[in-house]
Amino acid sequence: MKQKEILLFGASGQIGRNLIRKLSINNYKITAVTRNIHRTGYILKTQANPGYLNLVELNGFNYEKIRNLIKSCSICVNLIGILYEKKRGQFKSIHTDLPHMLSKISSDLEIEKFVHLSALGIEKAYNSGYAMSKKDGESKVLKNFKRSIVIKPSIVYSVDDKFTTRFMTLLSRLPFMPLYYNGETKFSPIHVSELVEIIFRMIESKNQSLTLECIGPEILSFKEIIKNLLISIDKKRILLPLPLPIAKVSAKILQLLPNPLLTEDQLNLLKFDNIKSGLYKTNFDINIKTNKIFKLEIEKYSYNWKMGGQYTRDRK
Ligand SMILES: NC(=O)c1ccc[n+]([C@@H]2O[C@H](COP(=O)([O-])OP(=O)(O)OC[C@H]3O[C@@H](n4cnc5c(N)ncnc54)[C@H](OP(=O)(O)O)[C@@H]3O)[C@@H](O)[C@H]2O)c1
Repeated sequence: MKQKEILLFGASGQIGRNLIRKLSINNYKITAVTRNIHRTGYILKTQANPGYLNLVELNGFNYEKIRNLIKSCSICVNLIGILYEKKRGQFKSIHTDLPHMLSKISSDLEIEKFVHLSALGIEKAYNSGYAMSKKDGESKVLKNFKRSIVIKPSIVYSVDDKFTTRFMTLLSRLPFMPLYYNGETKFSPIHVSELVEIIFRMIESKNQSLTLECIGPEILSFKEIIKNLLISIDKKRILLPLPLPIAKVSAKILQLLPNPLLTEDQLNLLKFDNIKSGLYKTNFDINIKTNKIFKLEIEKYSYNWKMGGQYTRDRK
């Protein structure tokens, strides 16, 4: 069977690495674009059998170079995203201008499909630069190229994430955990393997244009997520609701760190639930059900944060 050519931007991230594995075992030939081949090459190269994965180093969003890459693919997938800005204007350049360029080129070159990763829960967060830049990116993509699929996941988790793993580290070190908005913000966590299955089906499907919200089988509040993580790592911690003015001050301080746990922008976004909005179809509506239960999945890797680590007695 002829190998299908697929171009991945942002391939070294949590979703990208898992998607490479899924695509390569299904006979896709992947070109993975990364900013620094020396930093990410060792992670990427192990995700596919020889012959299935080609790595390309690209720093900055050079139009001509990107056009040449898209020219030789049939499907382009954009997974590039950031959670906070290192310099002003980065949200716009990464979440809006880049997808605008990629979808425009995809349209000019009439490739088969463009798949773009956006996010859930961004519609009402007018005072979040992350949310608004993602929203603008979605609009540009859908306007530029009619064969575009926009994927909007809730929080994505796995042993490779920067969410459950970071919180387990924090919970194992801090005596208390601050709760923003009383920990009431709701999420529909989706396991990366189930999200990758959805993206894969979208790549394979005949769908021309679709915006799809991707959710897991449960709705959990932030407090419930933290409680599940605590049970899983076998720790007891004080959960401390922070009044908003104090939360704002803490975000102002935390965002000065090189890899901040919370920024003011994220605090603004956290006010809004991260569950299906009713505005778009979800994976359940198109009969792609997710069934991985958060507390059961995190049990499979939380032993890393338990007393005894890999030698813990109750390792699953
Ligand atoms: N994970 C979630 O919970 C979640 C939820 C909703 C939406 N999403 C969206 O899904 C997409 C993929 O998520 P992910 O969790 O796989 O992300 P991730 O692990 O943070 O990976 C992001 C990728 O983006 C690239 N990247 C980061 N900063 C960049 C920059 N300044 N310039 C160019 N490339 C840059 C990195 O590639 P290199 O270092 O290889 O260049 C990295 O592979 C993103 O658009 C994200 O917003 C994720």
